[in-house]
Amino acid sequence: MIMRTACCGQRRVAAVLVAVWLFASTSVAEERSRPPVLPKDTLPKEIDLDAAMKKLKLLGGAPPDNPLTKEQVALGRRLFFDSILSKNRTLSCASCHQPEHGFASPEPKAVGIHGQTGRRNAPALMNRALGIRQFWDGRAATLEEQALQPIVNSQELGHSLEDVIVELRNDSIYVRLFRHAFAEADRTKQTETGGKYITSENLAKALASFQRTLLTGDSPVDLFQRGDYGSLSDDERQGLWIFESRGRCWKCHTGNNYSDEAFHNTGIGYGKEGRDLGRFEVTKRNLDKGKFKTPTLRAVGRTAPYMHDGSLRTLEEVIGFYNQGGTTDDPTLDRFIQPLGLSEKEMNQLVAFLRALSR
Ligand code: HEC
Ligand code: HEC
Repeated sequence: MIMRTACCGQRRVAAVLVAVWLFASTSVAEERSRPPVLPKDTLPKEIDLDAAMKKLKLLGGAPPDNPLTKEQVALGRRLFFDSILSKNRTLSCASCHQPEHGFASPEPKAVGIHGQTGRRNAPALMNRALGIRQFWDGRAATLEEQALQPIVNSQELGHSLEDVIVELRNDSIYVRLFRHAFAEADRTKQTETGGKYITSENLAKALASFQRTLLTGDSPVDLFQRGDYGSLSDDERQGLWIFESRGRCWKCHTGNNYSDEAFHNTGIGYGKEGRDLGRFEVTKRNLDKGKFKTPTLRAVGRTAPYMHDGSLRTLEEVIGFYNQGGTTDDPTLDRFIQPLGLSEKEMNQLVAFLRALSR
């Protein structure tokens, strides 16, 4: 693990703060009129960029047209936690992608500007550098392509790119940070005003670079697989075995990031009114109805609730869902989704394994 994104102490403090906040809100009307609390940047002061770069390189690296630099990461980090990207300055990217939740949201469906509830669960942002498609339906190819969409989405940050650029150019700190990040290649330009470097393209590049440093990988499961057999308990080891055999989980949650980066229909949402058709919205192919991108399972212990619609509250519910298998009258149901016949004990072992993967 390159960055410890959550630590029990912080979580306890956060829980106490939430409790105090709830206690303090005396009436519902008052609560509604108050803007939501912006999540704090709880990452380590210095992001270990050397470690991140080394790891990224092993995993395929950053794209050649947007190499990772210290200046861009610092800028992207500031932008990610800044409400300047929302129309009324009440939300940041971190409002839905909260550091203490593995950069996912504790809400089943994302809550955006003016308290609007969106239609999907905000996914975890750990290891997105490894993703070959972004969003549950894969409609963005890169992190750069993805980054501007929440800014202009009327249910998310509800802003316009033109206005964001103007606001950033009026902010002397951003003027300096953009210049540092993007005039670097040509030092003679360092004296030029940073406003010139504040473009939507560079905004997207900086947000993408910061997100490429959100990496996790050194869990007890990884240690076990490298030969440190004492790193997993008996139950966790048994859970790993079920994951790789009778559970059929590995058929889709495969590779270093526990995702085949492909789209499958697991049956979630089937039969519900106004069903989200997922990948079908992008390809318009009938066989893609109800398919969603296989999410990573890393950090999954911190990212509840689960699935594209946030409909399963706990890991126990997720395993219960898979154990049941999908409905047979769902025409695009994946062939690997079948009743598993696991005992209560085996289901708990699978959960123990998933938790070990998140440590
Ligand atoms: C209002 C809540 C909300 C805000 C604010 C928000 N997001 Fe998201 N984010 C989501 C939801 C919901 C999805 C999934 C949407 C989908 O798949 O259609 C998502 C998806 C993503 C993904 C794709 C992850 C994956 O697994 O494919 C990335 C990357 C991301 N957001 C980054 C950002 C960045 C950067 C910002 C700020 C500029 C941001 N988000 C602001 C809710 C939000
Ligand atoms: C056919 C491919 C496939 C198989 C087999 C499969 N999964 Fe999944 N998994 C997915 C997809 C796709 C999703 C997202 C589904 C959705 O949101 O509609 C998912 C979601 C999840 C999630 C929720 C993650 C999140 O961030 O919301 C967990 C946990 C999970 N799977 C664990 C498992 C386990 C454990 C097994 C084995 C018992 C398993 N999966 C088998 C494809 C699969």
